[in-house]
Amino acid sequence: MPVIAIVGAQWGDEGKGKVVDMLAQQARMVVRFSGGDNAGHSVVNPSGEFKLHLIPSGIFNAGVACIIGNGVVINPKVLIGEIDNLNELGVDTSHLFISDRAHLIMPYHLLLDGLEEEALGGKAIGTTRKGVGPAFADKAARLGIRAGDLLDKEALKERLSAVLDYKNVILTKVYGAKPLSLDEVYSQYCQYGERLAPCIRETTIMVDEAVSRGELVILEGAQGALLDPDFGTYPYTTSSSPLAAGSCLGAGLGPTRLDRVLGVYKAYCTRVGSGPMPTELNDQTGELIRERAHEYGTTTGRPRRCGWLDAVAARFSRRINGLTGAVITRLDILDVLPSFKICVGYELDGQKIDYFPGNIAALARCKPIYEELPGWQAPTTDIRSYEQLPMEARQYVARVEELISCPVNLICVGPGREQAIEKTPIL
Ligand code: GDP
Ligand code: IMO
Ligand code: MG
Repeated sequence: MPVIAIVGAQWGDEGKGKVVDMLAQQARMVVRFSGGDNAGHSVVNPSGEFKLHLIPSGIFNAGVACIIGNGVVINPKVLIGEIDNLNELGVDTSHLFISDRAHLIMPYHLLLDGLEEEALGGKAIGTTRKGVGPAFADKAARLGIRAGDLLDKEALKERLSAVLDYKNVILTKVYGAKPLSLDEVYSQYCQYGERLAPCIRETTIMVDEAVSRGELVILEGAQGALLDPDFGTYPYTTSSSPLAAGSCLGAGLGPTRLDRVLGVYKAYCTRVGSGPMPTELNDQTGELIRERAHEYGTTTGRPRRCGWLDAVAARFSRRINGLTGAVITRLDILDVLPSFKICVGYELDGQKIDYFPGNIAALARCKPIYEELPGWQAPTTDIRSYEQLPMEARQYVARVEELISCPVNLICVGPGREQAIEKTPIL
């Protein structure tokens, strides 16, 4: 059985949670590898409807070890709330583990995320304000505090004291905010540590052993390729890599051990937050998609910007991820449309281009070149085999495969676990 990375191939919210929940039924391990509680993964299965932010979407399967990998930044308060909430709903979380190397989101990260955004004014990134960016910045600056640090209270106090002195200077002198109290933060994090200690461990050994035993291991992504700090619409990006390359790093697995990379695409595009989005629809069609699909952020509730599928961006994310297969979700949202469009190229300053520019000013000037396809105007939510899809829907899927040069493995036609059609086998 292979190791499969499941990654977002657009701007996030493609339906990664649903796909992971579905495939996790055959797996023995799911590892979340990046992001933090900026992610919101919705799962609808026989146990109920859930919004997960940090806990891997395999948690509903008792036999699946669920690991929050070293590449994730963890707000312990949010994680404990998520565990409690699942337990109250009857979901067992005793098979949840946390990498001792995962960095923690601290109260100053939350404050700074808000203060930095406000300071940017009209140029704000539109972050989720969960402290994720500042926590990854501290990881790179070697100022981070990690899950493993919670296991040694003396060492935690020493480290926190040094970091907090510095953070308080920034809070008070740069932003005119109130300083944080060492005693309060320390005692709060000691409590979190006591609660989470049984789950914190050297998880790379677990991952290695599962892979060596030949078990199906899923690496669960957060966000999407176009939010990657290197390849996304920088600086309107997130702060950790949502790419397949990030999956190995964030799970502690060597890249030679990854067998498949599945990119999850919506049948159209959405984006939350600021930054260019060439196919955005600021019209009634965009509104129709948003309302029909209830495109509002799982984490922040913000309305998502909606637009047509951008095959230029989709091809780019196929390439930088090295996708072996694609999943198309939310095909059913297109069921009512008489026709719809796919962006097959851009016009940049009067020239046709077929690549995704690295420079956001150039991307913002790109005008989409569309191809219009006929709709099928029939419900697909109860269809379970590819042959039964309306001819126009199959034509659409085939065109996407052609445009992104990648086979489509799976097509989703509703939020439920069973609402999926296998086109070509993943395994
Ligand atoms: P994620 O962050 O990639 O896990 O995606 P989100 O959970 O934030 O957003 C995807 C939304 O689409 C969720 O509300 C899912 O329940 C829903 N969803 C996933 N696949 C489908 C599908 O094929 N059809 C419909 N109608 N909804 C879907
Ligand atoms: P999932 O895993 C969609 C966006 C934010 C903002 C930018 C930076 O559910 O797909 P951040 O808080 O990360 O510093 O914000 O990234 N963003 C997401 N958009 N889905 C997500 O996660 C996102 N996580 C972050 O809206 O534009
Ligand atoms: Mg989401």
